Amino acid sequence: MAKQESNEEKKLTRLNKFISNAGVTARRKADELIFTGRVTVNMQTVTEPGTKVNPEKDVVKVDGEKVKPQTEFIYVVLFKPRGYVTTTHDEKGRPTVMDLIGLNTRLYPIGRLDYDTDGVLLLTNDGEFSNMMMHPRHKVFKTYFAKLDKPIEESDMKKLREGIMIDGRPTSRAKVRIIPNTGDQNIWISIHEGRNRQVRRMLETLGYVVQRLKRVEYARIGLDMLKPGEWRYMTEEELYNARKLATPKPPVFRKADVEPAAEGEEGKKVKKGKKGGKKKKKKDKLKKQVLPELPTENKPASGSDVLESISKELEDISEKISDNKE
Ligand code: URA
Repeated sequence: MAKQESNEEKKLTRLNKFISNAGVTARRKADELIFTGRVTVNMQTVTEPGTKVNPEKDVVKVDGEKVKPQTEFIYVVLFKPRGYVTTTHDEKGRPTVMDLIGLNTRLYPIGRLDYDTDGVLLLTNDGEFSNMMMHPRHKVFKTYFAKLDKPIEESDMKKLREGIMIDGRPTSRAKVRIIPNTGDQNIWISIHEGRNRQVRRMLETLGYVVQRLKRVEYARIGLDMLKPGEWRYMTEEELYNARKLATPKPPVFRKADVEPAAEGEEGKKVKKGKKGGKKKKKKDKLKKQVLPELPTENKPASGSDVLESISKELEDISEKISDNKE
C-alpha cells in the first residue's frame, strides 16, 4: 500500500523551488546560488537544490538575507522603450525598466530586451512562472518585428528556419515571415530561446544589419493599447494561456494510429499489423475515420501557429510601417 504523506511532509518543498517561488530569482539561478554555497537553511550552508524545507519553520537565507515566502504574485506587461536597460540596477546609472514601474513590490524581468530594443517585457515576482516562460524546454515563443538594411533572401529565411550557428551551436528553428508590402526589408521572427542579442546576431550572421527591433509578443501576450513606458497587469486569461503554452504537450498520433473514440472516451492507440490480410483491411478502414478533436488548449502548436496568431498589434505596426510612421 502507498505510504500516506503526513501533514508535515506535505508542507515540505524543494529548496530551489522555495527560493524561486519567493521571487528571489528563476529556478536555474536558484540552483546556482545553492551550488555556490550562498544559501543557508537554519544557519547551515546547503549545496543540494533538492533539499526539502518547510516554508513555515525553516529559516532560509541567501547571502545572509532571509527569504520570505511570497504571498501575492504580480504579473506585469511593460512597453519597454528604447534607451532603458532590463535590470533592477545599472552600474552605469542608465535608466532601468524598474524606473517605469512605481510598485512597492520587488519585480523581476522575465528575460531581457537590449537597451536599443523596445516592446513587450513581462515582469513578475513569481519565480516559477518566470522559469516556465524562459526555460527553452517549454518552447514559449517570442515574436519580434525586425527592420533590415536590405531585402531578405528566401535562402536566408530558410537558414533562419533551420538554425544558425551562434556561439558554436545552432539556434533552434525560428519562424519567419516577410511583412507584405514593405519591400522585403521587414520581417516577423519568432524564437523560443533567449540567448544574448539572439535575433540581431542571427541576422547579422547572415549579413543583415537590424535597424529596428521590437518585441511584439511574448507567449502571445501583446502590448494592446500601451504606449512606450506604460505598463498594465496581465489579464487572468493571458496568464492562463501563457501557462498552457508552457505545459508539456500530449503526443500527437497520426490518423491511422488512432481508433475513433466512443462517446465520452479517448481515442485508443492502434498497434500496427503486418501488411495484407485482415490487418490491412482494418488499416484502410481507419484511414477514413476522423480523429477525435483535442480540446483547443491541448493542441500542440503547429509550425506556423505563432505567426498565424498575429494579433491586432502586429497588423497595426505593419500599417504604420507602410505609412512610414514607425
Ligand atoms: N534578440 C535581440 O537581438 N535583442 C533583444 O532585445 C531580444 C532578442
